[in-house]
Amino acid sequence: MKKFTKILALVLALAMTAFCFAACNDEKKENKAEENDKGVASDAIVADSSDRVIKMATNAAFPPYEYKEGEEFVGIDIEIATAIAAELGAKLEVVDMEFDSIITSVDNGETDFGMAGMTVTDERKEQVDFTYSYATGVQSIIVPEGSDITDIDALTGKKIGVQLGTTGDIYASDEFGADNVTQYGKGADAVIALKGGDVDAVIIDNEPAKAFVEANEGLVILDTDYAVEDYAIAVKKGNTELLDEINAALEKLTADGTIDAIIAKYIKAE
Ligand code: ARG
Repeated sequence: MKKFTKILALVLALAMTAFCFAACNDEKKENKAEENDKGVASDAIVADSSDRVIKMATNAAFPPYEYKEGEEFVGIDIEIATAIAAELGAKLEVVDMEFDSIITSVDNGETDFGMAGMTVTDERKEQVDFTYSYATGVQSIIVPEGSDITDIDALTGKKIGVQLGTTGDIYASDEFGADNVTQYGKGADAVIALKGGDVDAVIIDNEPAKAFVEANEGLVILDTDYAVEDYAIAVKKGNTELLDEINAALEKLTADGTIDAIIAKYIKAE
């Protein structure tokens, strides 16, 4: 009989443990279901990382890469970043700032990455790490219609408007002297200055140049490719984990045609 009691005890113990497991699992499932209701998580694996938010530092005054339509951020970079975030199971938060604050913001961890039609340069590579390049830019020169500036050399001694801290700013200052260069917070402000006659030319990336010329009468883009550049995403120096994640996402989004489709949506083939 004693033996029987022992066996009974064992069976009971096992049964209770099994019950506990089931109960615990049920509890977990309930939590998961709740999260699903809130639209926070779609499945158990994502549930843990679904609260992940990645912050993108940008300067949303650079159409067609990033700009605002009312209160909404739109553009090539915004859409590519949204697709990357989705690949990472994260939500994208766009943090709009001056262009020349982006690298500092990424460096001090205030934001996770910088994406702003940002050109890869050796100098910047000393401050941040860059992902694969996802687009190409060309520095262009905007002048008023009928201007006597018809090529790059004719910029010598002229007043040049640029966006502060951009490669256009760096080239113009290096080649034509900082005294001849006026830096504006936004490319659009440089264009307004050009229309008002405060500067004789504006150096800026080709696609924003096209957008600005389209939006302002009486301006033309010189038919000259000043400098061809690669755009990439900047992450904090040494953050190889995020760099690898973004690169893997970029590779996938390139291979499946997502990046091309986003670019084609904003830049119509000529
Ligand atoms: N490609 C240029 C650079 O890297 C200009 C980028 C300006 N981007 C912007 N969102 N304002 O310097």
